Amino acid sequence: MVIDADSRGLFIVLEGIDGTGKSSQVRKLASYFSSLGREVVTSREPTDGPWGKKLRDSATLGRLDPADELEYFLRDRREHVEQLIRPALAEGKVVILDRYYFSTMAYQGARGFDPHEIRKRNEEFAPQPDFLVILDLDVEIALQRVGHRGDQANHFEKRDSLQRCREIFLGLANEPFARVISAAGSMDEISRDIVDFLEGKK
Ligand code: TYD
Repeated sequence: MVIDADSRGLFIVLEGIDGTGKSSQVRKLASYFSSLGREVVTSREPTDGPWGKKLRDSATLGRLDPADELEYFLRDRREHVEQLIRPALAEGKVVILDRYYFSTMAYQGARGFDPHEIRKRNEEFAPQPDFLVILDLDVEIALQRVGHRGDQANHFEKRDSLQRCREIFLGLANEPFARVISAAGSMDEISRDIVDFLEGKK
């Protein structure tokens, strides 16, 4: 129904821990909607804007302190919402995001902030998506996929905190607009499951 080529914007968010293949699925979904004749905008968070850039730099230069990190994600998102998300939806486009405020709930939640509080702060300015796809995968497998070996100290990808992130994502499973989809299958299987969810099958 919502997928019909009408003029309303459609807002889809893909979430999941690192290694679940979100960016590939965003690309596949974009071609699916283009083939239906819809205008599609894809984007990601952190963005390539000034705040997003500081956040990406912190992955190599040293992690920000927790409160600053949370603020930067919020500032980055505020700009993203104002400059890209709301305008594209208002123009009737399909907006597909690789990460959104559910990642802040999960990752900054894993860092000690209350995920419900994070959600509340975000929903004061960030529109809820029509569909939230949570790609789910065992943490060990996800870490293997991103080429993480136990001795590599990439701070974003530590095992324990990813486990906590995964649990926070799974805690969203009962939201009416959300669906948890296994990321263990092939790219095509995952893509089919996502489209079935969006089309209201299964
Ligand atoms: P991402 O671009 O998905 O990672 P990569 O390009 O390395 O595959 O996101 C970068 C990291 O930012 C990721 O580990 C999750 C983290 N993140 C947060 O901690 N909070 C947030 O709100 C978002 C959007 C991302």
